[in-house]
Amino acid sequence: MNRIYGQAVSQREAEQHKWWKEAIVYQIYPRSFKDNDGDGIGDLKGIISKLDYIKSLGVTVIWLNPIYRSPNDDNGYDVSDYRDIMKEFGTMADFDALLKGLHERGIKLVMDLVVNHSSDEHPWFQQSRSSRNSPYRNYYHWWDAERGKPPYRYSLFDVNHDGWRYDSLTNAYYLHYFSRKQPDLNWENPQVRSAVYDIMRFWADKGIDGFRLDAFQFVAKDTTWPVWPAGWEKHFMQYYAMGPHLHDYLKEMNSQVLSRYDVMSVAEGAGNSFADAHALVDADRKELNMAYAFDAVDIPRPGGYSLLTLKGVFTRWDSAFRDKGWLAIFLANHDQARLVSRFGNDSPEFRVVSSKMLSTFVLTMRGTPFYYNGDELGMTNPGFRQISDYRDVAVLNEYKHRQQTGGDLNAYLEEMSFGARDNGRTPMQWDATPNAGFSTGTPWIGVNPNHTTINVAAQERDSSSCLNYFRRLVRVRKNNPVLVYGAYKLLDRDNRQVYAFTRTFGDRIVWVLLNFSALPATTAVRVPGGAVLLIGNYARVSGATLRPYEARVYETQMPR
Ligand code: NOJ
Repeated sequence: MNRIYGQAVSQREAEQHKWWKEAIVYQIYPRSFKDNDGDGIGDLKGIISKLDYIKSLGVTVIWLNPIYRSPNDDNGYDVSDYRDIMKEFGTMADFDALLKGLHERGIKLVMDLVVNHSSDEHPWFQQSRSSRNSPYRNYYHWWDAERGKPPYRYSLFDVNHDGWRYDSLTNAYYLHYFSRKQPDLNWENPQVRSAVYDIMRFWADKGIDGFRLDAFQFVAKDTTWPVWPAGWEKHFMQYYAMGPHLHDYLKEMNSQVLSRYDVMSVAEGAGNSFADAHALVDADRKELNMAYAFDAVDIPRPGGYSLLTLKGVFTRWDSAFRDKGWLAIFLANHDQARLVSRFGNDSPEFRVVSSKMLSTFVLTMRGTPFYYNGDELGMTNPGFRQISDYRDVAVLNEYKHRQQTGGDLNAYLEEMSFGARDNGRTPMQWDATPNAGFSTGTPWIGVNPNHTTINVAAQERDSSSCLNYFRRLVRVRKNNPVLVYGAYKLLDRDNRQVYAFTRTFGDRIVWVLLNFSALPATTAVRVPGGAVLLIGNYARVSGATLRPYEARVYETQMPR
């Protein structure tokens, strides 16, 4: 008889038992987590000083956004040396100490791997642009200008939305899907690929525990550069994602690096279909462990969103991955505005309870939860109003674009105050002192004024705080393998207020009832008598009606 956590399971279930499925990933945005040296920018020593806090959360894996040497056009997603640490963040000795400190506490470390593009200040690019005959020329994508203008490609962060940048030095254009300072690497060049695998081995040999592959679905391009049919921009991902040979590259990466270490791998993006996603992560394909899809985080709108849509998205993805493959579960990260401001209700009345309800969802859903720093406090959007509040290259360049093309700047600022990435990047709120205890210098981005009430110190003292609730939730997930391996089933599908589902594993059933609305709600779900409440976000559970944003998680045993 195979057993997982004492539960009788089938042979197939036993084979599927993996540490990265049981992981609870906590994402740290180093720039905003804790500044140790007073320059206003978070750093590795800052994270080290908070290791006991991180441990106290109970999370088992940390994902660090890029910490490599970088001119920071896109906050580290523009790497100029993949084997060194960003000056502002510290030194390699700091990194080694951080990794050791995490491992001593039983916490693993996943690093961001940014290899769709490098920085234009990386020596490879410097060489590549220096001459058409440079041995590094083919590390990037170039189009010689005597051929005329290259076929249009959209750039996500460019002022003119133009993905090709003219470089007079060699009279040629280079490709950049992101900013001009992020030229795309040419994955068709085997030297590029082997250089990337060397970099991965360098970090894996140091003992890290995994890689998050940034923008990886974009690496493979059709380098015959076809002219795409009119209107292709509306189907951007179909043209940009999952290009030729992507799977060959992943199989190669897997055989040369991933399979040789006990590391987890997660792709940012899951392609355009379930088939694409399966092709990335099914174990028998020997590519990656898991991917994260964007469908759910794209749902919220300033006026609210439909819970039915949200349930539909998660339920469809779950059923497509019921038997094979594995997914990451998340509702927030550094590319999104704050969890409670987008998916919950950040008004004083409902912030705490809705934030706890959302955390409950992320930690009880099937898939590996990825949870973003600060959400455990219920941190909110800061209410930025002016363009000078923003730091993100995406916002600054789009603002200029609209200025140049006569766009509605106020409408854009309005949109950004709800959705801009910088909303999720304000400094971590440690205490009520100036700068929220994040830094003694001037923080690189504004601190949310509500840090005087929403902060770690205050929440440590309050047993009913978001922070202490999150810790309890983590314990519940860790103590109940049914929340990792249990089958998911949606209940009361058409209920517009309540998201209800069960998770079933062995003889255990967990019942999750979540009221996503600010009004009391009823559900057709009848939890059997004798059920044990594992956790709830109100002090006492009473009656069948769910109070605003109420979350309840019960456990029952299958009748014998
Ligand atoms: C995805 C990252 O999450 C985002 O922050 C970055 O700007 C782009 N990839 C480009 O690297």
